[in-house]
Amino acid sequence: MDIWARLDDHYRQHADRPITALFDADPDRAGSFSLRAGDLMLDYAKTGIDAEARALLLELMRVTGLPERRAAMFRGLRINETEDRAVLHTALRAPETPVLVDGSDVTPGLRTTLARMERFASALRSGSLTGQGGRITDVVNIGIGGSDLGPAMAVQALAPYHDGPRCHFVSNVDGAHLHDVLAPLDPETTLLVIVSKTFTTIETMTNADSARAWMSGKVRDPGAQCVAVSSAVQRAGDFGIAPERVFGFEDWVGGRYSVWGPVGLALMLAIGPAGFRAFLAGGATMDAHFRDASPDANMPMLLAATGIWHRQIAGHATRAVLPYEQRLARLPAYLQQLEMESNGKHMTMAGEPLERPSAPVVWGAPGTDGQHAFFQLLHQGTQVVPCEFMVGAEGHEPALAHHHRLLVANCLAQSEALMRGRSPDVVRAGLEGQGLDPEAVERLSRHRSFPGNRPSVTLLYPQLTPHVLGQILALYEHRVFVEGVVLGLNSFDQWGVELGKEMAGSLLPAMEEGKLPPEVSRSTRRLVAALRSMAG
Ligand code: F6P
Repeated sequence: MDIWARLDDHYRQHADRPITALFDADPDRAGSFSLRAGDLMLDYAKTGIDAEARALLLELMRVTGLPERRAAMFRGLRINETEDRAVLHTALRAPETPVLVDGSDVTPGLRTTLARMERFASALRSGSLTGQGGRITDVVNIGIGGSDLGPAMAVQALAPYHDGPRCHFVSNVDGAHLHDVLAPLDPETTLLVIVSKTFTTIETMTNADSARAWMSGKVRDPGAQCVAVSSAVQRAGDFGIAPERVFGFEDWVGGRYSVWGPVGLALMLAIGPAGFRAFLAGGATMDAHFRDASPDANMPMLLAATGIWHRQIAGHATRAVLPYEQRLARLPAYLQQLEMESNGKHMTMAGEPLERPSAPVVWGAPGTDGQHAFFQLLHQGTQVVPCEFMVGAEGHEPALAHHHRLLVANCLAQSEALMRGRSPDVVRAGLEGQGLDPEAVERLSRHRSFPGNRPSVTLLYPQLTPHVLGQILALYEHRVFVEGVVLGLNSFDQWGVELGKEMAGSLLPAMEEGKLPPEVSRSTRRLVAALRSMAG
C-alpha cells in the first residue's frame, strides 16, 4: 500500500476518535506534539494527528522528494520549471552566504542593492534627501498582490518600530483607493514608490500614472519624488524614473516571496535599515532551521504535516488563520496569496491532473474580533474548519498589560473550547440546575451543546518584533513549499491569474464604447448593457 493509502486508512480507522482521547492515551502528548524553533513555539497537539500519522506524513515528505527539492531550492537550481527559474528568496535573507545560479554567485548583487536601499532610506529618514516642500513626511507604495501585501502587512505589523515617514498603500485599480489615500497628502512632501516585478501590471501602471499626474500639478520634477522597484529595470526607466531611483531584483524572486528585497523598501523606510536587517535575520533563522533540523523537529515540515492531514487526508476545504494580534490584521490576506497562489493548482509538475485536493481556502481575521463574527460557525457549523491561532507572550503596551492578558486568555480558550466542546449531558445538567422544565431542558440542550473535536494549532512568539515577524513569514513560506512538494506542484508559478487578466483587457472597450468581442456570453452582454444604462 502506498503512503497516501496508508494515511487514508489510518484516518478512516480513527475518524471518530476524539482528540481528547489522544491526551488520555499519551500523558506526554502536549510535549511530544509541540516544538520550538528560534523564538517560536508550535503546538499541534490539539489535532487528530497521532504518532503513526505523524510518521506517515513525514515519510510521505521523504518519498515525494522533499529533502532533494529543498536542497535544490537553497542551491539555486531552476526548480520553478514552468518558468525555468531558480527560487531564491532565501538568498535575500542571507546575502553574505554565496549562492550560485548558473555558475555565478548572485549575492554580491544582492548586497549592492541592499546597501543602495539602506543609503536611500537613511538619507530620506534623516531629512538629507527631501521633496520639493522639504522633508518627506509620507510614502505611498503603489503595487498589487505580492508588490503590496507583504510590505503593507509588515508595515502594519511593526507599527511600534516606526520612526520614519508615514507609509500608505494603494493597490486597487478602483480610483477610490488612490483618491482616498492621496486626498490628505501634500504632493510636495510625498514620495511615490512604484512596485511591480513586471512593471506591466495594469492596476499598478494605472495608479502610478494617476499618482504622477497628481504630483505634477504641484511638483516641478515629480521624477525626483518617485522610485521604482522592479525586475524590469528598463521598463521602469521608460516610465521616466532615473536609473539611480530604480531598485531591481531578479526574476528568481517570486512576487509573493518578495518582501525581503527591494519590495520591502516601504518597510525599511518605516522602521529603518537596522530593523529591516533584523527582519531578514529572522527569516534566515527559520531558513537554517528548515534546512538543518531533523524531520521530527522541523517546524515548517510539521506545520505542513497538519495542513496535509487536514486538507488532503481529512478533506477540510478551508483553513482559518487567527492572529490574536491586531497588528497582524493583514496576515490572513498575505497568507491567502502565499498559499492559494502557490498551491491552488490542478496539474502536477509532471503534467498529470492532481489527484488530491489542492490548497485549502485560507481565510481569517484577528481575534478577538472574529469571535463576535464567524466563530459561531467554527464551533457549531456542520463543516470542520481547522484553525491556526497565533499570539505573543507580550504586547508593546505595558500600560495596557491587562488587555494583553485578556487577549491571550481568549486565544487559549478558543482552541480549548473547539477541541473539548460541551456534551448535551453537561448542558442538560446545567439547565436542570437552573430549574427549567424537562421539555425546555431537552429543547435548549440541543442548541447549547458543542460537538468539539475541532482541530487547531497554536503558534506562540515572545513579542511581535521585526526578528520574530521574519521567522513567522519564513515558517509559512517553507510550509507552503513542503505542501507543494508533497502534492508534486510547482508552487512558484501562477498561470491561473492570466485568463481573467486577458478577458479584462478585451472587456475594457466594451465599457468605453459598448463594443463586445463575439465570444462574450449573453449574461455578460446583459450586465454591460445594464451598467452602461445605469451610468447614464
Ligand atoms: O496577478 C498575479 C500577480 O502576478 C502576482 O503573482 C503578483 O504578486 C502580482 O500579480 C503583481 O505583479 P507585479 O509585481 O508584476 O506587478
